[in-house]
Amino acid sequence: MKPTEYALKLEHVTKRFGSKVVANKDVDLDLRYGEVLAILGENGSGKTTLMNMISGIYRPDEGEIYIKGEPAVINSPKDAFSYGVGMVHQHFKLIDVFTAAENIVLGIDTEKYSIKEAMRRIKEISDKYGFDVDPGKKIYNMSVSEKQKVEIIKVLYRGADILILDEPTAVLTPQETEKLFNVIRLMRQDGKSIMIITHKLHEVMAISDRVAVLRKGEHIATVDTAAVTESELTDMMVGQKVCLDIGRSEPKNTSDRLIVKGLNLKNADGVTVLDDIEFTAKSGEILGIAGVAGSGQRELLETIAGLRVPNTGEITYIDPANSNAVDLRKKTPMQIRDLGVRLSFVPEDRLGMGLVGNMDIIDNMMLRTYKGGKSMFLDRQPSKTLAERIIKSLEVVTPSANTPVRRLSGGNVQKVLVGREISSAPSVLMAAYPVRGLDINSSYTIYNLLNEQKENGVAVIFVGEDLDVLLELCDRIMVICGGAVTGIVDARTATKEGVGLLMTTRKQGAV
Ligand SMILES: Nc1ncnc2c1ncn2[C@@H]1O[C@H](COP(=O)(O)OP(=O)(O)OP(=O)(O)O)[C@@H](O)[C@H]1O
Ligand SMILES: [Mg+2]
Repeated sequence: MKPTEYALKLEHVTKRFGSKVVANKDVDLDLRYGEVLAILGENGSGKTTLMNMISGIYRPDEGEIYIKGEPAVINSPKDAFSYGVGMVHQHFKLIDVFTAAENIVLGIDTEKYSIKEAMRRIKEISDKYGFDVDPGKKIYNMSVSEKQKVEIIKVLYRGADILILDEPTAVLTPQETEKLFNVIRLMRQDGKSIMIITHKLHEVMAISDRVAVLRKGEHIATVDTAAVTESELTDMMVGQKVCLDIGRSEPKNTSDRLIVKGLNLKNADGVTVLDDIEFTAKSGEILGIAGVAGSGQRELLETIAGLRVPNTGEITYIDPANSNAVDLRKKTPMQIRDLGVRLSFVPEDRLGMGLVGNMDIIDNMMLRTYKGGKSMFLDRQPSKTLAERIIKSLEVVTPSANTPVRRLSGGNVQKVLVGREISSAPSVLMAAYPVRGLDINSSYTIYNLLNEQKENGVAVIFVGEDLDVLLELCDRIMVICGGAVTGIVDARTATKEGVGLLMTTRKQGAV
């Protein structure tokens, strides 16, 4: 018989960072045996910190953690494993040059196992839950979703029966998410207790039995998923009624800004990744790009930004200052930036690209605004003003602009990254996945910022994952599939089904 109905119970747990930040305040929370509990809260509400205390990264300043009815002393991830707790982190912690199997057994007393035995157990776990991972493959050769599987196997290998997944779906395509959810359902069937953090409410509804809502470090309530609606959850998270509306305006004074014709690109292996792409982006308009992830979105934007050299095709920029046609293929990435063409591609690893974790928010602004030249002493003032403006408009949760970026929560790092690009007064703004990892409220702030840019006469190109948002935000949507344009539709009249169909329709004659 089980000693208690709870696999895990927190009582009065508080965690502070320095004198200013109370990341968790007097939190009572419980996780039942064999349930999936979603943890929901705005960016910076203390979700990761709370989970880090359960998994041995931090110690609570106050409060108790009970595991399977017993008070637990968790001083390290190793201690956590001894209680059966394993966590898959928001930023993966794998060693790139090692294979999957080496990472999985890393830190375990390997004398006890032969590598052959380890491989056998990895295979056993993979078969049981349906992971298709090659244990001999090096991490640097893996996609994000493969790396995530390795992290999960690593936790299962150590015998965890309480699993914590911190935003596992933020970096996955909808199809990969569905596969992960099937794994989670199998684990639940198997009696494991699971906590999952996600900002996507439809995922909360699809996968969880109960939802725990955090707000500004406090636990607001835990409710049965079946008994709440998405909009009730949003209101609980924010603490007031939230209006999630994208006020789309009619495009005004549009003129052609970026004209792409017959663009072809092959990758290093000679495979076609962009197939005869043609479109025009107009000032004062948001052009959406819809497509299954990996259909060429990244390559297209990088080619326009000058980071890739196309095999054939034209990319013409119409300079708003003098209406001159500028051939972007003849320009360097820096010259293209200087013309006002900005690319903000939110990478899967937010700290890996674009921001320097050890530097504060102001210096991270300077990385982009400083152009070199006049003086050996840098003027921090413009960057400081910009940092402060972004903190205010995007509600970045941080004690000050002088805080190192690595101390911010995942979503707040993201807001800094996106804010920096959006606020640089571009004439073409290419924003790919700008709301990855952002809570629902912040996502809408970003959508509204994109709208503002459009109203200021910027040609906005928005690559998104959520079809509802694409249809609500954009003026036109270009759908791509397998590197080719399968349709350009009017977002005001198009349907989700119609766009979905174009996303999976291969161009005639393509393989
Ligand atoms: N090591 C640290 N030092 C100082 N402050 C920290 C540290 N880690 C987290 N914080 C602060 O604690 C608060 C909670 O952060 P946490 O990462 O737990 O948020 P979160 O709910 O996971 O947010 P997100 O959805 O953006 O990932 C934030 O204000 C964050 O800046
Ligand atoms: Mg977090």
